[in-house]
Amino acid sequence: MEQPRTATEPDVPASAEPRDDAAPAAQGGMPEARIDDAVFDIAGLTVRYGSFTAVRDISMRVPRHDITALIGPSGCGKSTLLRSLNRMNDLIPIASTEGRVLYNGEDIYADWVDPVEVRRRIGMVFQKPNPFPKSIYDNVAFGPKLNGFKGNMDDLVEESLRRAALWDEVSGKLKDSGLSLSGGQQQRLCIARAIAVSPDVILMDEPCSALDPIATLKIEDLMRDMKEDYTIVIVTHNMQQAARVSDYTAFFTVDVDDEKGERTGDLVEFDTTERIFTQASDQRTEDYITGRFG
Ligand SMILES: Nc1ncnc2c1ncn2[C@@H]1O[C@H](COP(=O)(O)OP(=O)(O)O)[C@@H](O)[C@H]1O
Ligand SMILES: [Mg+2]
Repeated sequence: MEQPRTATEPDVPASAEPRDDAAPAAQGGMPEARIDDAVFDIAGLTVRYGSFTAVRDISMRVPRHDITALIGPSGCGKSTLLRSLNRMNDLIPIASTEGRVLYNGEDIYADWVDPVEVRRRIGMVFQKPNPFPKSIYDNVAFGPKLNGFKGNMDDLVEESLRRAALWDEVSGKLKDSGLSLSGGQQQRLCIARAIAVSPDVILMDEPCSALDPIATLKIEDLMRDMKEDYTIVIVTHNMQQAARVSDYTAFFTVDVDDEKGERTGDLVEFDTTERIFTQASDQRTEDYITGRFG
């Protein structure tokens, strides 16, 4: 099932200790955003599809138990970067990765690392809710069963649905199809499904873009609650959403090289959400945030 990995090897020891310089190595230089406890340490990350460079030389640190938002115009590589954090890009045969992604100090692209285990610890929720065509119960139990979970499944299903703020709405109809739920409920079911395998990080790629405003606010409330137990990285094209829920924000742009006809995603700046939205250090960020560019 696994595609052969085409990523080049990072030239650092896989067990490299987290760097002791606490400042994020982000482009744009923002020493205020000091992150002592990073769950991801991304350095010089470039992702290509064939010969096309989608994102170039990204360096940033993702703080633990916070919500980090990735924002920027369509095509700037937000989804590509997000997928590189749990090796989902491996599933795209032409994708190749260069640089380093340390997760809790370990290189997730090292030869001996099992990408399936990476994806268990670093879960993902997609733009369009995608429950399996199975019962609500089985949607949640599916991952744990696959992983050989030996504990009490009923308890695990209930606990996961509670953590996803869905239990009260579905406790009386666990045998109903997951597809019978509303869009917002389906998305929370997908979050419960991600939670059920005890991840450490949850990646969310525009998780609310298919939802109505009320369902969106519910998911945002849920994300705030989830911070206690998980680190969340969210891609959103909704600026207000980034401002409402995230603690840190990374702004990306597309660098267009007219001569070569290339469009490459670059990280412009990464900082606390408050600073990005009130005193961005790069004019491009400010222009985007204030809607002068989009
Ligand atoms: N599977 C793929 N194969 C080839 N090119 C891709 C693939 N996925 C994304 N790209 C290209 O990579 C660039 C970044 O895409 P993406 O990460 O989806 O950006 P964003 O999420 O910011 O809209 C775009 O130019 C897109 O067309
Ligand atoms: Mg995207």
